[in-house]
Amino acid sequence: MKKVTVVGAGSVGATCADVLAQKNFLDEVVLIDIKEGLAEGKALDIWESAAVNYFDTRVKGYTSDYSKTEGSDVVVITSGLPRKPGMTRDDLISTNAKIVKSVTDNVMAASPDAIIIIVSNPLDVMTYAAHMASGKSANKVFGMAGVLDTARYRAFIADELNVSPMDIQALLMGGHGDTMVPLPRYTTVSGIPVTDLISKEKLNAIVERTKKGGGEIVNLLGTSAWYAPGASAAQMVESIVQNQNHIFPCCIRLDGQWGLKDVYMGAPVKLGRNGVEKVIEINLNNEEMALLEASAGHVREVMAVYDNMKLN
Ligand code: 2OP
Repeated sequence: MKKVTVVGAGSVGATCADVLAQKNFLDEVVLIDIKEGLAEGKALDIWESAAVNYFDTRVKGYTSDYSKTEGSDVVVITSGLPRKPGMTRDDLISTNAKIVKSVTDNVMAASPDAIIIIVSNPLDVMTYAAHMASGKSANKVFGMAGVLDTARYRAFIADELNVSPMDIQALLMGGHGDTMVPLPRYTTVSGIPVTDLISKEKLNAIVERTKKGGGEIVNLLGTSAWYAPGASAAQMVESIVQNQNHIFPCCIRLDGQWGLKDVYMGAPVKLGRNGVEKVIEINLNNEEMALLEASAGHVREVMAVYDNMKLN
């Protein structure tokens, strides 16, 4: 029995459940929300698409009943408020930290062995909060940001070159915010270094657009994105449950890699049955290292805000 729970039936959570159902590798997807009827309604709507979208994954929704999430292999936590225009992800900390902590407690009570993927913002610090609340080993609690950020970066490069976004291989590190560190040196188009195909100036513009990719959507919609975030979380779930061992940038607790310790941010990892199977400690040049350190400094500031909330 392969079972995944998605906590939060807002747009990101519901999209994640929908993409998971359509991938058709799970027996059951449980959607859960505190708002009466929301998870039930969205789950039912997704399930009613099964005959047309050719899947048989059962999709079920419940209001705050964590007993129904028991025995989940993976739990995706999307709970919390999204950004509004003018807000940074960090502005969400006081509301979302409490939500993520209590959700994690409930998840742990029902599925103590589950791997937990955090999607709530501010992502890096919410991963920290969930990790603390869960008491699990760090390879089993991590955050979704890098898959989304690289997906945006790959989409922009694909537009620039008029090629398939699937041909673009890319890596990105650091926090999920304006200090994220896209790595053009580790970006290829079907194996061809992207720097051979796009001028430095244009690539810089793409990197800057990627860093502000979440904000671009917030400005257009008045709330944050959901199609790409939901699909990105679903791709991580698939790599874990199907033991695919994909290498994805994920938000993890660094444990001395790149000289950084006890800070949660994006790094390339192998994702398989046990969660983070391996951290791939790629070489960074001085310039990249400086950007990564600056990003770590920023994440640490937000972690300190969380520590001062004294929720643990
Ligand atoms: C984003 O980048 C929601 O943080 C997410 O769109």
